[in-house]
Amino acid sequence: MATTAPDRDNTITSLRQRIDDLRAALKEHNYRYYTLDAPVITDAEYDRLLRQLETLEAELGEPVPSDSPTQTVGAPRSATFQPRTHGEPLLSLANAFSDEEVEAFVRRIVDLIGGHSGGDHSGNDHAADQALRFIIEPKIDGLAINLRYEQGKLAIAATRGDGRVGEDVTENVRTIADIPWRLHADGAEIPDVLEVRGEVYMSKAAFAQLNARQDAEGAAPFANPRNAAAGSLRQLDARITARRGLNFFAYGVGIGGREIAACQSDLLARLSDFGFAVQQTELAGSCAELLQHYRRLQQQRASMPYDIDGVVYKLDDFALQDRIGAVARSPRWAIAHKFPAEEVTTTVERIIWQVGRTGVITPVAEMQPVAVGGVTVSRATLHNCDELRRKQVYDGARVIVRRAGDVIPEVVRAIDVADHTRLPDAPDHCPACGASLFRIEGEVAIRCSGGLACPAQLTERLRHFVSRAGMDIEGMGDKLIARLVDEQRITDIADLYEFDYASLHDWPGMGAKKIANLQAAVARSRQRPLDRFLYALGIRHVGSATAAALADHFGALEPVMQADADSLIDIPDIGPEVAGSIVSFFSEAHNRDVIHRLLAAGVQPAARQTTTGAHPLSGKKIVLTGSFTAINRRSAQEKLRALGAKPTGSVSKNTDIVIAGEKAGSKLTKARELGIEVADEQQLLAWFNH
Ligand code: IVH
Repeated sequence: MATTAPDRDNTITSLRQRIDDLRAALKEHNYRYYTLDAPVITDAEYDRLLRQLETLEAELGEPVPSDSPTQTVGAPRSATFQPRTHGEPLLSLANAFSDEEVEAFVRRIVDLIGGHSGGDHSGNDHAADQALRFIIEPKIDGLAINLRYEQGKLAIAATRGDGRVGEDVTENVRTIADIPWRLHADGAEIPDVLEVRGEVYMSKAAFAQLNARQDAEGAAPFANPRNAAAGSLRQLDARITARRGLNFFAYGVGIGGREIAACQSDLLARLSDFGFAVQQTELAGSCAELLQHYRRLQQQRASMPYDIDGVVYKLDDFALQDRIGAVARSPRWAIAHKFPAEEVTTTVERIIWQVGRTGVITPVAEMQPVAVGGVTVSRATLHNCDELRRKQVYDGARVIVRRAGDVIPEVVRAIDVADHTRLPDAPDHCPACGASLFRIEGEVAIRCSGGLACPAQLTERLRHFVSRAGMDIEGMGDKLIARLVDEQRITDIADLYEFDYASLHDWPGMGAKKIANLQAAVARSRQRPLDRFLYALGIRHVGSATAAALADHFGALEPVMQADADSLIDIPDIGPEVAGSIVSFFSEAHNRDVIHRLLAAGVQPAARQTTTGAHPLSGKKIVLTGSFTAINRRSAQEKLRALGAKPTGSVSKNTDIVIAGEKAGSKLTKARELGIEVADEQQLLAWFNH
């Protein structure tokens, strides 16, 4: 049926409106994903929206503005880090979600290179011609980085940003062990400027460790390794990045790349020779083979040490790649074949309210066990009441469960929720001790007011106290702690040192040897250094790093206990919230009493001696002068401090070493006059690498 003119106008107006809405929504999602590292929709949902926009833009048939999300990669950079223009832009990859889309990709390449295909346009096995060699790489779920090497030395590392301009994260990237500071050239020619591209990622093991630490510090866990990697890379203090244990795989090149290899498989071999970590890859000559490798990797996915979210197929030969070229966002010679999100449904058996070390009450869904992403899942945290309501989870609900980033099981949402469904009310008393609950203003969490009188909090606090990163009391396991608390034999952490362990001889499994070992472990723990002791106390927001900073700064327990918020804020890494939490912990009479009892029982938390450290710069007074190329002065000073050295401003006879950069002036002259050791930037970097 023909449409009348006003009808058509209406249709076009509403089409434009939908396009505008989609563009705005996608821009916001880009911002949340790339800048905030906190996406609110799944990658699959994002891809669906993007495709919808592409279809509508095609339907409208008007020129597409260059800032439409279909034409750009990523999101605008944030203001904190210096902008860096990449030598060559970083492209993104088009996605395929089905076998048919992969077939279409191969067919299109066959069409584009025409003559090389041997006349077969099916995209299937006849494409096995040498010219049509594809390389298959796992698609790492991390974030892209461009590394610029000048004369073989790492000069700039920048995030992808919008593909053209990214953020300078050089100092942070230098802490990643898989990235060489200098290319291992072994006498071979290397381009004056070489851009190496690849993915910074966090292994599943490092992610689990990081979240365990976050948890111990009472901080929010990261949702998945990708977000954790992104957050870790964009730290203003490179020492934090260093502690996060990031990794890197190289998979591409920008400027200079064509000088070192003729195809992707050779390139990866060269990059590996240069000192980069590269992934294991496969070659294939037909669509059927590509799909075989896809299914194999899908099987291996769960057992891999890092997250992959699909497979990348690239035409191996660079000359052919160049002939085929790119469209707006992505090359036509490569495609990402994504794995479907692993989601399953199960039933919630009940929702329990768990009490943590700091008294936070968390709803947890106990579910009928279900296999997802290679593991069986039967519990998942619902984080807090707001989340529980948002996801509409109740006892007996059918829910979709997913392993977020393939690590933490997560309830996505309930399905078939009826209008009259009653969501569980938050408890108004602590489920473990019955004390009243409270909420700190501005926080979503509800907390138990019972303190150490609450057995759940006490159990968690004891577990934290004896944990490996804390007082490390071997043999004091969860079950033993639970029973000691349950029978009220131990009512606070000081009891651990006053308790008569011999009295446990009639407990099942507690033989004389076990008791003796436990007593020895408790005795050994009296000598733990101050930082471990401070961490073990379980002060909110005080994790290992903050505890170490406190111990280094104050050198003894007493001044930490006396410190006021102002003097705490002067310590790097300690902000007002952490300072407030420390002051309030030590001002509580009960806590001071427990600490005095610990000391009376022979616990002797002593500061570590930083000057006895093995590092050659430890304890040395060092002056930096002149300008440096590979590192900026502030971060050099921070690194020196972290190594136990003392960076100072002026040269005197007490100075141990002067590091002279380019155009060093009077300080260098003075150092020479006084006969003080002088070193250059290269030497400094070598010391940092020591
Ligand atoms: S090649 C022009 N290879 O996926 C080619 N990218 O969705 C551009 N990624 O921006 C990238 N593993 O951050 C390539 N083996 C791999 C990859 C990979 C992960 C990421 C990369 C890229 C994104 C595109």
